[in-house]
Amino acid sequence: MLLDGNLPESIAQAARTIRSGGLIGLPTETVYGLAANATDDTAVDAIFTAKGRPSDHPLIVHVASAVAVPHFASSVPPFAQALMDAYWPGPLTLILPRHAHVAQAATGGQPSIGLRCPNHPVAQALLVACAAPGNTPEQGGSAVFGVAAPSANRFGRLSPTTAQHVQAELGNQLLILDGGSCTVGIESTIIDCTRGVPVLLRPGAITAEQVAATTGCKVLKPQDLDSAAPKASGTLEAHYAPAAKVRIMDSKSLQTGLNLIGSDAANMGVYARSVMRSASSKIIIRRMPDDPSATAQQLFAVLRSMDEQGVRLIWIEDLPYTAEWDAVRDRIERAAASA
Ligand code: TXA
Ligand code: MG
Repeated sequence: MLLDGNLPESIAQAARTIRSGGLIGLPTETVYGLAANATDDTAVDAIFTAKGRPSDHPLIVHVASAVAVPHFASSVPPFAQALMDAYWPGPLTLILPRHAHVAQAATGGQPSIGLRCPNHPVAQALLVACAAPGNTPEQGGSAVFGVAAPSANRFGRLSPTTAQHVQAELGNQLLILDGGSCTVGIESTIIDCTRGVPVLLRPGAITAEQVAATTGCKVLKPQDLDSAAPKASGTLEAHYAPAAKVRIMDSKSLQTGLNLIGSDAANMGVYARSVMRSASSKIIIRRMPDDPSATAQQLFAVLRSMDEQGVRLIWIEDLPYTAEWDAVRDRIERAAASA
């Protein structure tokens, strides 16, 4: 069921649901989440069941502000504090050492916890409303409520960027706060802060260059470390996949391919910055924006709509090899890897 996330009564109803152990669909600026009380292990188990996600894959815990961090994290290195100061609320998740016994199920039993403070107004309102009465910032207390929320898709599938996508993934029984289309469109940047220097586990709208500039540290990748990185399903090779097969091609091969296929082609989609011509009227051609943020914002919705139109094969034009395209390239390569 969709509720208008801008209405106070919708927020109140969703907060009641969360506080009594239920699940809701929650808009954030990145993608929609499937949310539950992070410290209620039974509610968190229901997230894993609804998503079909292995229960040892840790979830991100969302907080209303950095004030809640010491409740969940046992220590915060100075570079992590600098990142919070610079980018929260915003599309950045920090992995920090966890207090024992806090959010056991949400963290998949790992000694660390992923924390994020989203800046979507509906997510902010929900997080504040979930805090115990008398304990909100307005009332002089601190909002220490945490909401565990993985992306609201079934395991391995595309993350939802509208309330309707969540409904299509998880059904109409779920209470979903409708907060419109997500403005970022791809999942948050994840920085592991438990290894002495920032380690980029998942690229996102906050770039590695920004993290380096803010912290004054070189940003490492998991492959730069000797020890095994913690399990992160967003880092499995085949993830974020549409049902259609995805192939990445340069613009010349793409046009040559379309010419070869001629007028009979059907059930095909093309997503390209270059102008493409096809003799078939049945091929769905979508123009990719020239700008990486605009592409990120629409990427999952474009792939999802091609799936819905019965497309079986999607050809995507390769991306410019510049750092600003890293996050979009990551998602497209993962979509292609699952073929
Ligand atoms: O933008 C986002 O981050 C969205 C919205 C809803 O906030 N959430 C999201 O959650 O993408 P999810 O569960 O689909 O992806 C979370 C990623 C997973 O790859 C998970 O393994 C990793 O974060 N993660 C969470 N806690 C972790 C931890 N303690 N150590 C390592 N990775 C962790
Ligand atoms: Mg996900």
